[in-house]
Amino acid sequence: MARILITSAIPYINGIKHLGNLIGSQLPADLFARYQRGRGNEVMFLCATDEHGTPAELAAAKAGKPVAEYCAEMHEVQADIAKRFGLSFDHFGRSSSPQNHKLTQHFAGKLAEAGLIREVTEKQVYSNADGRFLPDRYIEGTCPNCGYEKARGDQCENCTKQLDPTDLIDPRSAISGSTDLEVRETKHLYLRQSAMKDQLDAWIDSKTDWPVLTTSIAKKWLHDGDGLQDRGITRDLDWGIPVKKGDEDWPGMEGKVFYVWFDAPIEYIACAKEWADAHGKPDAEWERWWRTDKGADDVRYVQFMGKDNVPFHTLSFPATILGSGEPWKLVDHLKSFNYLNYDGGQFSTSQGRGVFMDQALDILPADYWRWWLLSHAPESSDSEFTWENFQQSVNKDLADVLGNFVSRITKFCRSKFGEEVPVGGAYGEREQALIEELTKRIRAYEAHMEAMEVRKSAQELRAIWVAGNEYLQAAAPWSTFKEDPEQAAAQVRLGLNLIRLYAVLSAPFIPETSARMLSAMNTLDTSWPEDVGAALGALPAGHAFTVPDVLFAKITDEQREDWQTRFAGVRS
Ligand code: 2FM
Ligand code: ZN
Repeated sequence: MARILITSAIPYINGIKHLGNLIGSQLPADLFARYQRGRGNEVMFLCATDEHGTPAELAAAKAGKPVAEYCAEMHEVQADIAKRFGLSFDHFGRSSSPQNHKLTQHFAGKLAEAGLIREVTEKQVYSNADGRFLPDRYIEGTCPNCGYEKARGDQCENCTKQLDPTDLIDPRSAISGSTDLEVRETKHLYLRQSAMKDQLDAWIDSKTDWPVLTTSIAKKWLHDGDGLQDRGITRDLDWGIPVKKGDEDWPGMEGKVFYVWFDAPIEYIACAKEWADAHGKPDAEWERWWRTDKGADDVRYVQFMGKDNVPFHTLSFPATILGSGEPWKLVDHLKSFNYLNYDGGQFSTSQGRGVFMDQALDILPADYWRWWLLSHAPESSDSEFTWENFQQSVNKDLADVLGNFVSRITKFCRSKFGEEVPVGGAYGEREQALIEELTKRIRAYEAHMEAMEVRKSAQELRAIWVAGNEYLQAAAPWSTFKEDPEQAAAQVRLGLNLIRLYAVLSAPFIPETSARMLSAMNTLDTSWPEDVGAALGALPAGHAFTVPDVLFAKITDEQREDWQTRFAGVRS
């Protein structure tokens, strides 16, 4: 039994995620986790909310709540939606957990001991009215280039010129509007990534099986321009993990916190400790996933994320881990995704454009979305959600192919043999041919799933469903029954067994429906079809079952148009 550690990029706390976020990381990670469990492997699947940084503070302010309270509430909201989408995390943690505080401070201490942290004094804009330093994006003013009055301190949205906050004419705080600003000196910590360039380079070179998309991003950051830059890992904010060296205070860093991108990936590890603590398990239980000196050397670690997250996962986080000098597990395989667009534009959280996870579940059950999103995953390029395409996929793949198969065979059996797997007859040539085709296809499906080729896996699964329909069409037990009821019994027996087989194979994609199929087939046998012939005998003659309700309802043109209009604007 293999041991597989899986993490999904941890979603920001500030708001409910849209479908583009979901397919960019959490959903394909869930597909992989469910598949690996289905194959009998031991899986630890972790995700969390990413709770620090200015966006979290501002979202809380907007909601009129203290930030800790806001984060606690939003965490529950996200956890609930994740559950309703069938995301099967072993633990859904919080980057603001005490475990992550401790571990982040621990890493900073180790990095300091290794001489990999330097202190830098910088000039930054301070707002007297707000009582805080302002990040560049939270300073507004008039663009010196085009005169646009709402230019941000990092860039003018109007003419796209890159700016420094000090370039702005009449600068003001974007938080309070106050113009009572001054430039103050402030001290920050930088992680000396440049000193680790060769080590990181060698590590990336050892990843010969990584997709070029991934390694080329890492290589670009390592070699372009002046090469890998040191990175600021602290901020002047109230909300975050206080800067400490292990348990000790860090002189000169009072009142500062770690930068959100420093502590977020450390939460992957802290999350495992949260899981152990939540279940009253000893540290050894989580350490066997993360410490190579405590059993994690035989763990395979796979990360899922959107392409924008790749530099942090190929360079910054590995720099933290390698720099600590401690035996933490490094990622073995990193699966990244392009973007999903929405109906001719982009999904956007800030603009409320697209379909958000809660809205999606309000109109249809999770499996409809899971199937569409996974079978259209933005792997080799960006992909696009359109309502027409969604309607077509659901109606064809789910309703016409899988749903129809299940309904036809169970209803036919009930009408001629009753709600029991029929007795009599034997599998013949046609059945042998089907077993051979399915064997070939299931082995291909396994290979695609193993390689995390999401779209190819979905195509193969669909082909497996189609093969069953074609068999049924050709065998036509409703005709056979008239001359040879024994043979019809064998055909129906095979069909009913196919339902169980499909439930097992499809569970990673459509877990709720799979569970319904198994329950209709009245079986707890979820064993993987290593031997397809044997798997098609799992439900013996005489085994009772029930005809399930319609598995998938077709989407009507009316519904499609209604949703199209409803989701055309922006979410308030
Ligand atoms: O891009 C994002 O949504 C980030 N919150 C991902 C963080 S992933 C990790 F490093 F924790
Ligand atoms: Zn401008």
